[in-house]
Amino acid sequence: MIEQVVNTNGLQIKRLHTMPTSGPLVDRFGRVHTDLRLSVTDRCNFRCIYCIPDGIIPTVSKRSLLSFEEIVKVTKVLKRLGIKTVRITGGEPLVRNNLPELISSLAKENFEDLSLTTNGYFLKSMASHLKSAGLKRVNISIDSLDASKFASIRKRGSLNRVLDGLNEARNVGLKPIKVNVVVMAGINDDEIISLLNFSKLNDVIVRFIEFMPLDSNGSWSIDKFYSANKILETVRKVWEIKELDKADKSEPSSYYEIPELGIVFGTIASLSQQFCGSCNRLRLTADGSIRNCLFATDETSLLEPLRNGVSDDRLELLIRKSLWTKKLSHGSDDTKVAKPSRSMSMVGG
Ligand code: GTP
Ligand code: 5AD
Ligand code: SF4
Repeated sequence: MIEQVVNTNGLQIKRLHTMPTSGPLVDRFGRVHTDLRLSVTDRCNFRCIYCIPDGIIPTVSKRSLLSFEEIVKVTKVLKRLGIKTVRITGGEPLVRNNLPELISSLAKENFEDLSLTTNGYFLKSMASHLKSAGLKRVNISIDSLDASKFASIRKRGSLNRVLDGLNEARNVGLKPIKVNVVVMAGINDDEIISLLNFSKLNDVIVRFIEFMPLDSNGSWSIDKFYSANKILETVRKVWEIKELDKADKSEPSSYYEIPELGIVFGTIASLSQQFCGSCNRLRLTADGSIRNCLFATDETSLLEPLRNGVSDDRLELLIRKSLWTKKLSHGSDDTKVAKPSRSMSMVGG
């Protein structure tokens, strides 16, 4: 039996009542999952104010960290179930030892896309190894172009070092490069225009991200929230912009062209214009849990089954069952935002 429901994007979507045991990875709302966000560590060498406060110690013990073999076993099953694209995340993924080795194994699976989101600190030395291992592209966080502000937002960061990393990534051909900017009112909202000029000069796509309440120290507050609409208004004061059609409806980012500058930029309106209705993402945490949403309040651990020699068929069933509990929107079946069980650094965004 199928009943109609309206989701938060205002779209009519069908609600399914029986979990399929074959075919694509589908949830109760008919959303087909084709993208994996693979967190390889919850550790990070930075302490960004929107993510991990100083003094926080990562919780994943060495023992419970999935080995590369375990990760590859799960991703092979996921590939068979229709996962087409893989993004490697952290914490900071480049602090995981021997990461290029894992990338080589994943590259052999021939995913349509194999990308990585990084703070950029280790990119200068790692970019060529990542590229030779088979990585296609990187997204790099740069929240400010002012070195002292950058350091105050990212705590242990160094702007120059990250910029060197960005240049190296471009030199070795990890393209296109996207630059992620978490916009916080009163902190870096005055840098929107300079970041767009930077985009032009450096051949990168800048995406402005709404600050989400996913920081582990609760530093999010409504007065620090700067909406995507405000970002667009700020840009329109300087340049004309043209909204681009979404080539991929499940992408969190909306893109805009600035014809006068000849660039494209994006906004990620996680809070003001939720895109959950077209979500195609599944997450695997560094300690082997399937999370069906960034905001999920529960998850399915594959760690013990993996360590007890689980079969691929049983893994498939565990993954399908986890996905079947995915909520309509932001971890909730109504319009609220659920307080997630893990913060951003533990999930990898
Ligand atoms: P592209 O494939 O290059 O478009 O990357 P991406 O935007 O999917 O990934 P990235 O790691 O660069 O994330 C950019 C921002 O989007 C981060 O703030 C993520 O937390 C956020 N994001 C990614 N997936 C989701 C999601 O499922 N829900 C929400 N609300 N935000 C997400
Ligand atoms: N809100 C929005 N985006 C965030 N990120 C980290 N914490 C937050 C937050 N609280 C982004 C970082 C990085 C990606 C993994 O998630 O900018 O690009
Ligand atoms: Fe580290 Fe990324 Fe979180 Fe910043 S956003 S503290 S770089 S995990």
